[in-house]
Amino acid sequence: MKVTIVGAGAVGASCAEYVAIKDFASEVVLLDIKEGVAEGKAMDLMQTATLNSFDTQITGTTNDYSKTAGSDVAVITSGIPRKPGMTREELIGINAGIVKEVSSNLIKHSPNVTLIVVSNPMDTMTYLVHKTTGLPKNKIIGMGGALDSARFKFRLSEALECPPSDVNGMVIGGHSDTGMVPLTRLATRNSIPVSAFLSEDRLNQVSEDTKVGGATLTKLLGTSAWYAPGAAVSALVQAIACNQKKMFPCSAMLEGEYGLNDICIGVPAIIGKDGLEKIVEIELDDAESKKIKESAEGVSKTNALLEL
Ligand code: 2OP
Repeated sequence: MKVTIVGAGAVGASCAEYVAIKDFASEVVLLDIKEGVAEGKAMDLMQTATLNSFDTQITGTTNDYSKTAGSDVAVITSGIPRKPGMTREELIGINAGIVKEVSSNLIKHSPNVTLIVVSNPMDTMTYLVHKTTGLPKNKIIGMGGALDSARFKFRLSEALECPPSDVNGMVIGGHSDTGMVPLTRLATRNSIPVSAFLSEDRLNQVSEDTKVGGATLTKLLGTSAWYAPGAAVSALVQAIACNQKKMFPCSAMLEGEYGLNDICIGVPAIIGKDGLEKIVEIELDDAESKKIKESAEGVSKTNALLEL
């Protein structure tokens, strides 16, 4: 299994580290446009191999896509991250051009690749990749919901004062500060609905904290987060590499599902060797359905800024 990660910034490098430590890939290629950065981070990571007991071969390259040839999975993290106070949508002007060029370069060398899009505004960047690459729709996965759900479960575990491993929950909708839809109604603590433990007000606070999870960290860090985004991407890569058929909320191209068309937005999906193998339509209540439609309106507005 060969994995390419474009963008050796904090998210890309974290993803490379987690993929290597999980040791399911034979090779990870880290690519960046900045001279030496990918090579340096790859070498530094390889020097942890005997300490972290992995055999995955990590190499770095400065913008030489021939080194990515034959990749099974490629992760696109390249582009600028947001600064405190910025929305993800404000990044579109610069990141759209980068994502378009990167995806085209990747496919040139790996025509059967599955692309995982991380660059923001992620739902719109995922839509852009669908529209410009012509890859089959199952071969393009937008990563946002896996990260947002991890943040949701963290916030629930805080409120429940229990280990995160006791909690299950999912966030669907757009990967944006206003468009996320944490499914509090369906969240559980060890199979028991969380509403048995938490008041409606407290659950609303958990939802609100989840939606601004990225912005909260950007304010603290001065830039976008990287550990949880990198870990969320590595979980998707592993599900593909190991054909796990795991369910993650991912940004998928919808063609009627959830009453939506020609839009990429976070929905439950089965991830396996063929990428986004199945979109799962779950019963939403009226409030959740309304939120998804409002979220889709927001994503469509950002999509309209693309010059396709
Ligand atoms: C985040 O929410 C980078 O969009 C990513 O942290």
